[in-house]
Amino acid sequence: MERIFSGVQPTGNLHLGNYLGAIRNWVKLQFKFECLYCVVDLHAITVPQNPTELRANIREVTAGLLAAGLDPAKNIIFNQSKVSGHAELAWIFNCVSRLGWLNRMTQFKEKAGKRRDNATVGLYAYPNLMAADILLYKATHVPVGADQKQHLELTRDIAQAFNSMFDADFFPEPEPVIMDDTARVMSLRSGTNKMSKSDESDYSRINLTDDADIIALKIQKARTDPEPLPGPGDQFSGRPEAENLVGIYAALSDTSVEEVCAEFGGKNFSEFKPRLTEIAVAKLVPIGEEIKRLSQDLSHIDAVLSNGAERAENIAQPVLSEVREIIGLI
Ligand code: AMP
Ligand code: TRP
Repeated sequence: MERIFSGVQPTGNLHLGNYLGAIRNWVKLQFKFECLYCVVDLHAITVPQNPTELRANIREVTAGLLAAGLDPAKNIIFNQSKVSGHAELAWIFNCVSRLGWLNRMTQFKEKAGKRRDNATVGLYAYPNLMAADILLYKATHVPVGADQKQHLELTRDIAQAFNSMFDADFFPEPEPVIMDDTARVMSLRSGTNKMSKSDESDYSRINLTDDADIIALKIQKARTDPEPLPGPGDQFSGRPEAENLVGIYAALSDTSVEEVCAEFGGKNFSEFKPRLTEIAVAKLVPIGEEIKRLSQDLSHIDAVLSNGAERAENIAQPVLSEVREIIGLI
């Protein structure tokens, strides 16, 4: 049976990149598979967090998932720390995974930077916890952005190593699902940087909670070049900002870049931007309003997370019992 698992960190506002690159795909998958979607709070604390903000962010990201269209009856939506099996299996994987494997992880190198000795052990072992998230449910498919592919390779290595250490055909090797239309959304200020919550300029991103006026202003101020839009089949070479805006329009309107170029080729950005604003407002403002509405209803959000955790626990417990048996714990 195919089972999907994916995770999102509860750190700060969700933005258009999170929506088009991840959450929108999750919404599509819910109609085809059994899906677990996890707000990975234990991953968030691998770097310092303010406790009050962390609590608020766990709820806000959950509200974002619901507002974007994930159905909590169909999917198992929960926060990681509520199911203690994640931490338990992660410890067991700490005893399976190898220093040499973790030393190759590029995300650790990026996040730890030059002050490597000062990074937490948790940040270093983060990929082992991610492997535990996935394998605790014996998930077979994991939708992720390209930046997480290396961690998923490691998950497969851990599954294989566990199976061979204990001569057991136990864990599946989960497959990445990099969806064809997984958009990589770039900053509105520079077409060569990813749209990111850590960019200091709020004009670089469209947050899911931005209202219509703010969305309009951000698109109006978005960087472009003086050329008109290319026609279908023309190249965007050297025009990353133009390519990004056209890509966003195509993703939001569920069409292809080719079709957008067929419609707007030869026209100026002064004509294109208002149309982009229109579609962005139509798609995003209802989600933003639902996030704000749900954020007033904490008891509903907390109930969704508790219910999800209970259902997750029911899948995790038998797996953990078998793991304990396999490795000789009583
Ligand atoms: P993060 O906010 O970096 O924890 O990412 C959460 C999810 O959103 C991951 O699946 C990322 O791959 C995806 N994501 C984040 N930023 C972008 C972006 N600019 N474009 C596309 N996907 C993104
Ligand atoms: N590491 C992922 C990220 O930063 C989040 C994550 C944690 C995840 N556990 C996961 C994604 C398991 C997929 C499956 O985006």
